[in-house]
Amino acid sequence: MRIKTIILMIMSLTMAGCAVRNKEQVGQQNIENLLAAMTLEEKIGQMTQVDFSVIGAVDPQGDELIDPAKLQEALLKHHVGSILNTPSTPNNIARSYHIWQKIIHDIKVVTEQTRLKIPVIYGIDAIHGATYTQGATLFPQAINMAATFNPELSLKEGEITARELRVSGLQWNFSPVMDIGRQPLWPRLWETYGEDVHLATVLGTSYIKGHQGDDFAQGNKGLTCLKHYVGYSFPINGKDRSPAWISERMLREYFLPTFEAGIKAGAPTIMVNSAEVDGIPGHANYQYLTTILRGELGFKGFAVSDWEDIKRLYTRDKLAASPKEAVKIAVMAGVDMSMVPFDFSFSDLLLELVKDGEVPESRIDEAVSRILKVKFDAGLFEPSTQPLAAEGHFATAEALATNRQAARESIVLAKNTDHILPLKKSARILVTGPTANLLNVLNGGWTFTWQGDDESLYPKDNPTLFKALQQKSTGSVTYVGGNSFNDPIDINKAVAAAKNNDVIVLAIGEKPYTETPGNIDSLNLESSQIELANALLATGKPVILVTLGGRPRIITAQAEKAAGVILGFLPGMEGGEALADIIFGDYNPNGKLPITYPRNTNDIVLYDHKPIENFDPNVYKPLYPFGHGLSYSQFQTTGLSTDKNTYKMGDDITVSVHVKNTGSLTGKETVMVYLNDLAASVTRPNKQLKAFKKVALTPGQTEKLSFILTPQDLSFIGVDLKRIVEPGEFKVMVGAESIVFSVTP
Ligand code: GLC
Repeated sequence: MRIKTIILMIMSLTMAGCAVRNKEQVGQQNIENLLAAMTLEEKIGQMTQVDFSVIGAVDPQGDELIDPAKLQEALLKHHVGSILNTPSTPNNIARSYHIWQKIIHDIKVVTEQTRLKIPVIYGIDAIHGATYTQGATLFPQAINMAATFNPELSLKEGEITARELRVSGLQWNFSPVMDIGRQPLWPRLWETYGEDVHLATVLGTSYIKGHQGDDFAQGNKGLTCLKHYVGYSFPINGKDRSPAWISERMLREYFLPTFEAGIKAGAPTIMVNSAEVDGIPGHANYQYLTTILRGELGFKGFAVSDWEDIKRLYTRDKLAASPKEAVKIAVMAGVDMSMVPFDFSFSDLLLELVKDGEVPESRIDEAVSRILKVKFDAGLFEPSTQPLAAEGHFATAEALATNRQAARESIVLAKNTDHILPLKKSARILVTGPTANLLNVLNGGWTFTWQGDDESLYPKDNPTLFKALQQKSTGSVTYVGGNSFNDPIDINKAVAAAKNNDVIVLAIGEKPYTETPGNIDSLNLESSQIELANALLATGKPVILVTLGGRPRIITAQAEKAAGVILGFLPGMEGGEALADIIFGDYNPNGKLPITYPRNTNDIVLYDHKPIENFDPNVYKPLYPFGHGLSYSQFQTTGLSTDKNTYKMGDDITVSVHVKNTGSLTGKETVMVYLNDLAASVTRPNKQLKAFKKVALTPGQTEKLSFILTPQDLSFIGVDLKRIVEPGEFKVMVGAESIVFSVTP
């Protein structure tokens, strides 16, 4: 059938359809018609995603980053349906949105030369803003967004990220990470929203709603990708891409709920876990990818593999006896699109498998239908899809202000002995430490480059912690330190300098990293940092310890002697300013820990630990517990109450409490509602976060807060692995108060 006829047929059906059927039905009809017109090679091409380097010019000249011959080979010969990642130009410059627009335009031009003109969908890791675009708004990383306990900020981050991507012509973002971070050694902890299911659910779904709006085809919205499904974040040895052993009960209690929430929030794509759970690689797990994801969670979008992970079923996991068997295993388990990413082997092998009858074409049609549906829903088939105008949408003043606010609210004041903080701006301050005068330590991985560690690529006008303090100071700020993370710091010089200063701001922590390059053998800090800290603490001058980095490093001995401790994690491009705002009191801190901060490197007991762990009352003795965070004000909650003492099964429970600012400064406080099921057929955590609200209060102001706990909040995974609520007594806890209520059958 002539193409023109096919296109006309689709268009006529569409026009005819619009009169009598809704968009969904018209879309489905279009997909079925398009599928019917596709060759097997074209279908399999839609399941193929390649890295930019497959189409990239080896020696790009100016803006010409694509090699036209390579692009034509990918799209015309191999019918590739998706491309990902950033061009790694020799000087690794972050691309302007003009360059991105040209890349997307050049791809569209060649797409128009294909038989069916099926649009390519371009995927990018914009995990804390449009990470590979010059001048983009780069937010605090997820661990910090979690520390804000502020879903409104997460929603705005999603909105701003989506629209800045659309200025570049990009719209598929490999974000948010819905893995929960319960293994502090893991080098991607900072990409999660922390250890708690409820907190991660609220922050992650808020991000999705901001990023996608009601229709991610809108010109200022984009589609998200839930990752990494499922159980990737809990490697038993803490190393990236290493075995996780997660029972089905733990999976259903801790690791599936955030993905279930993300699907309900409308995320249309999912990226698969790059590691293995219980000996089964994520890309080979039919139970997870089909039985649960499709059968239970009702996911209708498509599942994309992670980087080269289908090949790795053969090359790494020794699960498949050949590359061809690896493709068969993954496709039949439920992977719809392969992030190959460097060649066309996936499509070549899958074509053979279908022709050999080893993979039914019905499975191909199923995967391609899912992919086409997402492309239709994304508006990719609309010829009018143009990049969003930069004016008013890219790096706006509103975006900058939102980012600064997010950074401020993401920083945790953990210790403030004798109100040493905030410092007077007239103070004489010594600033030192490996993270004191760098931007990359504020941002972490996936920033201009994969590892985020090339300081030369960072904007010169954003201040580091040191420069931000210097800009704000009316006294003196002296820096002793190097120009890169590994530059040795002259301890004697720092100690000598301390003598001429009133206070020391010592910035320690980690250099940027992500994935396996970030693997470590201990949470202990590098000895050079400990030596510097101990020498400065020995001077007797008050030390403000500032930590930066993607995970908690052991600072116990130093923190116990320091006058103040500020946990910054990865506050993003505005992090230097935000830290200075807090240190000088221009902002009243309100961040709360989204993870447990361990006292010792093997002291990995999380806040929602079990009654059996109370056997030793010291079992949960973190340096700083989940939810910890100080303010320059003080807040008190009183009058905890529930609307009834006894409830029927299925009832909602209304919890009320008053919160008062008893301090002398206006500030924000997050009120957290914890629940404990006092007796159940499966042991329950002593406490689990079930609701929270963040409020701003002026000195002396009191506000009454109410929370609704639903049967879902009371539920758990029972002995038979089904989610249930059992009658009995429950304890609700807020601040220092608790109340017991009963649920009757
Ligand atoms: C990486 C990461 C994943 C990312 C993908 C594409 O290996 O695991 O989070 O989205 O590759 O860059």
